[in-house]
Amino acid sequence: MAMRTLKTEPPVAPSALPDLLDFIRHPSISTDPARKTEVAACAEWLATYLRQGGLETKVHPTPGHPIIVSRAPIKPGRPTLMIYGHYDVQPVDPIELWDNDPFEPIVRDGFIIARGATDNKGQIMAHIRGVIDDLTEHGELPLNVFFLIEGEEEIGSANLVPFLREYKKELACDVVAVSDTGMVAPRVPTFTYGLRGIAALEVKIHGPAMDLHSGMFGGAILNPATVAGRLVAALHDDCERVRIPGFYDDVIPLADWERESWARLPITDDDYLKMTGAPSLHGEKGYSALERIAGRPTAEVNGIGGGYQGAGTKTVIPSEAFVKLTFRLVPGQCPEKILRAAETFFRDNAPLAVRVVIEPGHSAPAYLTDPQSGFGRAACRALERAWERPPALIREGGSIPVVQSFKEILGVDTLLLGLALPDCRAHSPNETFPVENFQRGILMSRLLMEEIAAMVG
Ligand code: BES
Ligand code: MN
Repeated sequence: MAMRTLKTEPPVAPSALPDLLDFIRHPSISTDPARKTEVAACAEWLATYLRQGGLETKVHPTPGHPIIVSRAPIKPGRPTLMIYGHYDVQPVDPIELWDNDPFEPIVRDGFIIARGATDNKGQIMAHIRGVIDDLTEHGELPLNVFFLIEGEEEIGSANLVPFLREYKKELACDVVAVSDTGMVAPRVPTFTYGLRGIAALEVKIHGPAMDLHSGMFGGAILNPATVAGRLVAALHDDCERVRIPGFYDDVIPLADWERESWARLPITDDDYLKMTGAPSLHGEKGYSALERIAGRPTAEVNGIGGGYQGAGTKTVIPSEAFVKLTFRLVPGQCPEKILRAAETFFRDNAPLAVRVVIEPGHSAPAYLTDPQSGFGRAACRALERAWERPPALIREGGSIPVVQSFKEILGVDTLLLGLALPDCRAHSPNETFPVENFQRGILMSRLLMEEIAAMVG
């Protein structure tokens, strides 16, 4: 097939911007049962949009939120690219820290501000527009393309994995592209060749049968909130290494070439300090901030609670307390093994005067791919052409649970071509996405199709 050479200047007027804003207006918070109909409405809106763009689109119900499969006209004999993304978003709280309604996007100084702007609506919409624009302009695409867009990425993709098994034939493809990762700095295209895995766990600590008067009983009853604090305190040693026995046993250490090349990237410890607003950086001894985030496993307390949370004081011994944790995992570590080790650790460290209930949650292993593979190089060429400079190669600390399942079930690699900026505030108040990244993302998606198609002539 003749190569259709795209102009590489990003379009000046982002004509698709109003469409993206409409997409963002759907409050598709997957974790909130009260939003179930709004999540479904978001899926329907997106499906209609894809159909209008000329793609054959199906919305598959699941026990949770629907999964969308949307296919461009089939081209026999051409390779097939699957583009994966998610239409669900994280909760908006603390709502009082937002400058605007999180679902009424504003565009200020070239940035879209809203929940989901970056993660993942802006990024998946860039691909949708790229595909639809290419199809509209040329009447056909240079290869087969279909979208798989789910509504449960932010809660662990539990229904997507069985879906992959059930629809394995229909979802057959040569490679997957995902834009749901970061760029190391503004205007620095980034190919992410690895992600951390994740393993979630909740520890519930039950004490007395009811909240008790802390004067009448304090001193004679073990306080579950105290136990929660002790268990959390026991998790790390003085070097900030995780104290769970066996936690590091299977960790594949960072390679020398990775440490050397990461050190040359335009992102420093100082940048992390500025981005986070923390008083200082802190973490496992012997590693830079980037190495700690992208290449080392961690134990994070995501929430801790129990007892009186209201205004003023209330003198009680709470009857129960909880700790919500996630472990971020690196290549080599097995999520189930880590969850078992953590459970044993918490049981061994909990005193007999409380009853501890441990609930393992979602989990997924880390992901690693070869940036020098044929597809990896095609992705890097697309990134380079879209941003007019060679891409940085990096691993990242976040997780996209399903990418390892694409490998295991569908037998294909995933190309991670992220458009998120380090300070995009994903999962935080005032999430932002630059309009420029949307524009260049559309271009990148088109160039990616062109580059993959050109690999096979
Ligand atoms: N886009 C992120 C994943 C990500 C973030 C990758 C930063 C690379 C860098 C994704 O939407 C996400 O937030 N995933 C969750 C998954 C979890 C809830 C199972 C995450 O990493 O916390
Ligand atoms: Mn996310």
